[in-house]
Amino acid sequence: MRALTIARHGGPEVLEVREIAAPEPGPGQVRVKLRFAGLNFSDVMARQGMYPDAPPPPCVVGYEGSGDIEAVGEGVDRARIGERVMVLTRFNGQAEMVCVPSAQALRISDAMTYEDAAALPVVYLTAYHMLFRISHLRPKMRVLVHMAGGGVGIAALQLCRTVEGVETFGTASAAKHDAIRAEGCTHPIDYRNKDYAEEVRRLTDNKGVDLVLDPLGGRDWKKGIELLRPAGMLIAFGFANMSTGETRSVWNMATQIVGVPMFTPMGLMDKNRAVAGVNVGHLWDELEMLTEEARELLVLYERGLIKPRIDAIVPIERAAEAHARLTGRQNVGKVLFRFTA
Ligand SMILES: NC(=O)c1ccc[n+]([C@@H]2O[C@H](COP(=O)([O-])OP(=O)(O)OC[C@H]3O[C@@H](n4cnc5c(N)ncnc54)[C@H](OP(=O)(O)O)[C@@H]3O)[C@@H](O)[C@H]2O)c1
Repeated sequence: MRALTIARHGGPEVLEVREIAAPEPGPGQVRVKLRFAGLNFSDVMARQGMYPDAPPPPCVVGYEGSGDIEAVGEGVDRARIGERVMVLTRFNGQAEMVCVPSAQALRISDAMTYEDAAALPVVYLTAYHMLFRISHLRPKMRVLVHMAGGGVGIAALQLCRTVEGVETFGTASAAKHDAIRAEGCTHPIDYRNKDYAEEVRRLTDNKGVDLVLDPLGGRDWKKGIELLRPAGMLIAFGFANMSTGETRSVWNMATQIVGVPMFTPMGLMDKNRAVAGVNVGHLWDELEMLTEEARELLVLYERGLIKPRIDAIVPIERAAEAHARLTGRQNVGKVLFRFTA
């Protein structure tokens, strides 16, 4: 089978489609023939050597996909063969076939497209987990969403729209503002040409926001904490500021780490603030929690309340182009890989 392999750390040229043996499903597993696989920012960082969770190269990454169950291991009902599924996998997802524990292959309805099923898992689970499990989104809250035009950003905007009167502030390049407004963003902010913190203060009469979803890291975490109203929370869930181009810059990494804010329980207590962290990739042992959230997302999808925005679908052989859409900051929503011709 074909598998998108990161041969070594580096630029897009290190991506190779290799022919490798198809995996055999072990006890309790299913083998899924994938039609589509999702590309996430973490995959780009893995290629650049800036994602510590990724396996050492040569490796196949990929957390999600969609397709059909074509074989099952011992202990799994053979009636599942032929089922259309959405797959959650810890790596190995950017290959034609993947084996996962059967609970990580969720049946999808006939109404759901394979494209949407591949685009939904990581970004919606991340956004849902932050908004509804870590924070408890309530009507009229004010939420700052960074990278608002990206996969998680758009998922967060759509989910915020499911709660009455939530006001969202979304940072994105100006060219994406119409798109994010259409996805529910109340106040798009051109962070490249304006200081977003000043802009949030201006738009809120200096009151600030109740929730900051921050995947940028470094000094932005500090700025975000300063924007919180009493009882507000910042959720740190990424460090995109580490990535400045196609390859790793040690100097940039060092300056970003120096910018990480220090805080103490006393300081948080006195200011009535909360700081939380989310890494869905580290919740793999909490499968029940994740599958419960995934099922809730499937219900929201069936009710028409959420719909993945697909930016591009790229054949696996042209993976470098897919990565370039993210590093070049061109994507609005999800980029998917396609395995079929
Ligand atoms: N902790 C978790 O469980 C978890 C799960 C999923 C994702 N994440 C994190 O969430 C963030 C968003 O992921 P995603 O997959 O939604 O992103 P994405 O779709 O790849 O978003 C890419 C967009 O982000 C903006 N951006 C801001 N800073 C950037 C930078 N330094 N390099 C490239 N693009 C940058 C660009 O848009 P503009 O030009 O419009 O700003 C770009 O088009 C990432 O930091 C990722 O690591 C964390």
